[in-house]
Amino acid sequence: MKIACIGAGYVGGPTMAMIALKCPEIEVVVVDINEARIAAWNSDKLPIYEPGLLEVVQEARGRNLFFSTDVNKHVGEADIVFVSVNTPTKTRGVGAGKAADLTYWEGAARVIASVSKSSKIIVEKSTVPVKTADAIEKVLRRNCSNPSVQFEILSNPEFLAEGTAIEDLMAPDRVLIGGKDTESGRAAIATLASVYEHWITKDRILCTNLWSAELSKLTANAFLAQRISSVNSISALCEATGADVQQVSRSIGTDSRIGPKFLNASVGFGGSCFQKDILNLVYICETVGLQQVADYWHQVILMNDFQKQRFVERVISAMFNTISKKKIAVFGFAFKKDTGDTRETPAIDVCRGLMADGANVCVYDPEVEDNQIYQDLGTEKFEWDHPSPRSAPISKTAIAISHDPMEAARDAHAICVLTEWDQFKSYDYQAIYDSMVKPAFIFDGRNILDHTKLRDIGFIVYALGKPLDPFLQKQYD
Ligand code: NAD
Ligand code: UDX
Repeated sequence: MKIACIGAGYVGGPTMAMIALKCPEIEVVVVDINEARIAAWNSDKLPIYEPGLLEVVQEARGRNLFFSTDVNKHVGEADIVFVSVNTPTKTRGVGAGKAADLTYWEGAARVIASVSKSSKIIVEKSTVPVKTADAIEKVLRRNCSNPSVQFEILSNPEFLAEGTAIEDLMAPDRVLIGGKDTESGRAAIATLASVYEHWITKDRILCTNLWSAELSKLTANAFLAQRISSVNSISALCEATGADVQQVSRSIGTDSRIGPKFLNASVGFGGSCFQKDILNLVYICETVGLQQVADYWHQVILMNDFQKQRFVERVISAMFNTISKKKIAVFGFAFKKDTGDTRETPAIDVCRGLMADGANVCVYDPEVEDNQIYQDLGTEKFEWDHPSPRSAPISKTAIAISHDPMEAARDAHAICVLTEWDQFKSYDYQAIYDSMVKPAFIFDGRNILDHTKLRDIGFIVYALGKPLDPFLQKQYD
């Protein structure tokens, strides 16, 4: 059996590496039009940072795992073609700012149709609007000149989270496969399931119809993001009342119906998926006339925007209503720990908000490349996937970037913790405090630091969703 995967990104690369690792008798080729990305996958500096990924790639690469730019050859030869291309939010035209841009998906389908000389199973790995399989099937059938070639489309959404991709792929809560309830549909589902059964037990492989699988992915992300917006909304109320959001999270999380995970209040959720997929869901609801349902889910995004704005306003108001020309160190730019990914990271909005008020921002992140930060801060909303000329990188003088946290904090008035990197917990905060301008502030947007210890050192600490520091409380009274 030969598998080809179109798209060597955050999903295609790790997912195929795991399949190759676990199925040594299957040849797996990941193809992409991006030559630099493929070259990086073929090197020991992989294009994405993901704990454990390099080891998995190194074990399978050259044995039965290959990365190539020869899309036509490998797709043409494959029995199963995974499509794991980007499906970003549309930035122009009908549905701009909400609908999924399926340009890359349709482009991939046209390539498959044009190079196929044998029948294939086509697997939707990308997150797509419900009913996409219907459209893709039409594109495939109408563009394939060989009448003997049959395509069976399956939906197999990916649930991995960045930073834990290898763990998630190794032991997923479930694998979801949607397909048609026909003889050939059932056979295709069984073939794909047999790949996963190399390391996942049958009871964790769920089979549904196509539309349920497509919609389940959007729904899962909407529910996860909703939990964060819900707890973030409560964090604002905690600050207003003296309750502690971590205590509230723990209290409600012990209810087995609610569960303890995904209840960490934060400066806001980021990442390439949550906002995009909820907006996509909102758009689908609007197009089928369900405005109330659309509004319900849209509120999750609005609450997330409110949380980021609220954080910036808290920084400004705490620092005597002026941050102009004050150095503010930002610890963490990635959208979560253990990844160098910055897509939709809350740090973009927070840095922009601080810079708009005149602060001299200095960013430290252990994994994010400098150029990525310059690019992100100049990119228009939703354009990160395909920047237009409007989205030019900001000037290197507009923001400072440091590769040393001590240096980032030196002479700063404040530190904002925006990513929950473990290393931030173990810094020498006494030494950091000594090097800062007084009063020295810490705004912990992830609640990872030891706030009592920091207050003992002398910091004025803002801990998100927790009773206000007495110094701050006095200011607001
Ligand atoms: P990505 O942008 O990192 O990778 C997509 C890749 O597809 C790019 O390298 C691009 O060059 C390539 N590509 C686009 N069109 C192509 C074509 N016609 N031929 C060959 N290559 C082509 O995207 P990603 O983060 O891997 O996400 C892929 C899909 O998976 C999206 O639909 C996303 O919503 C979904 N998803 C992502 C995550 C995640 O954590 N990133 C998790 C689950 C699902
Ligand atoms: C998400 C989904 O979890 C995953 O199943 C899907 O396949 C892709 O989208 P990802 O975006 O990689 O994964 O990371 P995730 O762990 O979900 O975190 C998303 C954002 O929410 C991050 O910014 C994270 O810091 C934030 N978050 C998460 C919180 O603010 N609080 C939490 O309790 C959990």
